Amino acid sequence: MSGVVGYIGDKNPVEVLVAGLYRIKGHDSAGVAVVNDEGVTAVKSLGKLENLEAKLAAQPVTGHLGIGHARWATHGVPNETNAHPHFDALNEIAVVHNGIIENYQELRTSLQQEGVAFRSQTDSETLAHLIRKYYQGNLFKAVQQALRCAKGAWALGVVSRHNPDVLIVARQGSPVVVGVGDNEAFMGSDVSAIIKYTRDVVYLDHGQICEVRRDGIKVEDLDGNPVQHEVVHVDWDDSAAEKDGFPHFMLKEIHQQPEVIRNTLRGRISDDASDVNLSDINISEADIKACPRITIVACGTSWHAGMVGKYLIERFAEIPVELDLASEYRYRDPIVEKNAIVIPVSQSGETADTMEAVRLAKSQGARILAVVNTVGSSVARESNGVIYLQAGPEVSIASTKAYTTQVTAFALLTIWLARIRGTMTKDQAKDMIAELRTLPDKMQLVLNNQEPIKALAGKQKYRDAQSAFFLGRDYNYPSALEGSLKLKEVSYIHAEAYPAGELKHGPIALVTNEMPVICVAPKGNIYDKMVSNIQSIKARAGLVISIATEGDTAIQAYSDDVLYIPECYEPFSPILVALPLQLFAYYVAVNRGCDVDQPRNLAKSVIVE
Ligand code: F6R
Repeated sequence: MSGVVGYIGDKNPVEVLVAGLYRIKGHDSAGVAVVNDEGVTAVKSLGKLENLEAKLAAQPVTGHLGIGHARWATHGVPNETNAHPHFDALNEIAVVHNGIIENYQELRTSLQQEGVAFRSQTDSETLAHLIRKYYQGNLFKAVQQALRCAKGAWALGVVSRHNPDVLIVARQGSPVVVGVGDNEAFMGSDVSAIIKYTRDVVYLDHGQICEVRRDGIKVEDLDGNPVQHEVVHVDWDDSAAEKDGFPHFMLKEIHQQPEVIRNTLRGRISDDASDVNLSDINISEADIKACPRITIVACGTSWHAGMVGKYLIERFAEIPVELDLASEYRYRDPIVEKNAIVIPVSQSGETADTMEAVRLAKSQGARILAVVNTVGSSVARESNGVIYLQAGPEVSIASTKAYTTQVTAFALLTIWLARIRGTMTKDQAKDMIAELRTLPDKMQLVLNNQEPIKALAGKQKYRDAQSAFFLGRDYNYPSALEGSLKLKEVSYIHAEAYPAGELKHGPIALVTNEMPVICVAPKGNIYDKMVSNIQSIKARAGLVISIATEGDTAIQAYSDDVLYIPECYEPFSPILVALPLQLFAYYVAVNRGCDVDQPRNLAKSVIVE
């Protein structure tokens, strides 16, 4: 994920900024800007931070105030022009920004009409020009006024040549902290970026803006009302700080899901919340109307998300969808019909099999619409259009937040397709969008109440199991597949997933009183069918863990244990169900002493066949 850093004080700012940037995982370019007697000097570079360091060694920059940024591209390809910091036209105000300015096109057009020339393709540059527009000597006021015009998310750092004693920091959505030192102060996207220098931090809240000086800070909201701030002393060690205080990246990324789902939705919903806006994906309405069939190709977890996508698109947009494992698709001479659309799904965008499936489909004339997390990745580059997940980099090998954002992207795509194909009314779209928007808060509720999951994973009968089954039906058959993959890859327990209706055709022979069977059974159309499947397992003495909807006490009669999720719209239930499944796998693995973030034999990007 992109990250921001800042410093004001007597140390060499470049040293502090680069040290902070090294703590930000995953980036494609980086840059710093330092205020000194000559103005604001910026140095940027593409690729690894070592490149930036080498440049800074060749052209040293000094001063007492600076900001820095490590970029993970969201708008515009990774290159030095798009790298932060971004400047106003006079090169006097510099900004670093993490987040998304949703209305940047609108702001950009109106600034251009006022004569502003843009240098980059980024949404962030808009903020530099907007701040300049309102600047009348008071940088704090100018940033405050500019942000009142912006919609979206930001962790923002701003400096100006004419205000060498002040660093402005603002937050909406994207996290940012201010560190307080002895006659110095710091800014970081998280504590890990500044913990080398201070443990006294102020966590800014949504909608707050902070004037940072060496000897103190002032916090206000965007309307200028003063806000009381609290300095918190963190006593995490260095490695805990990198994981935001979580013991593993997997747990940190599980906890990031409410925020990243908000990011996936951000900017893709019309102002009246009745339509999805995917107009920038370079596939026209005519292409959608002419499409006889969609084929989804992916591997592993991404394939599971693709299966939810298939169920959603077929049901609501009424387009036939074929789902294929990329490694099968590329060798089985698939038939690509005229006007077909192929959707590769990939977190990394570098998976070799998915890439080859894309090349094959393209060579046969298909339009390629990728669902990808990594901007500028191979799959993204070779596709006609891309829906980016906006999940930020996933460090843990076991995929968590990429999966739920992939499913969310399919939900958005489904509504968009269905509206174009005329299979969904505006009111239906509105209702579905409203349901989607409730998900982050519901996910937070599950995360706030994970003690029962933790306790369950600690029970000897589950922790020491040799083998487990995961069952689900319809939308939650893919949930069962994903739950099973999570458990096997992080805990090394053998696990299999079945559509629950298939169990009686053979696998039920394996059910014993030592076999945990995790049954995904939220309320919905096939709930009763699921319950009868669960009863048949219980009749064979299987150990049943049900994942059910809050308030469903009846299911307790057939289950050894029940994990609850908040009530939700059935087609989107896989997004919520993923959380207890991920947490269960995580805590079982921790209890078994497994290396959760680096499971044996696995790599994060499978770039070989
Ligand atoms: C499982 C996991 C893998 C990936 C698969 C595809 O937790 O991460 O199954 O989903 O290797 O990777 P991407 O999505 O990068 O193409």
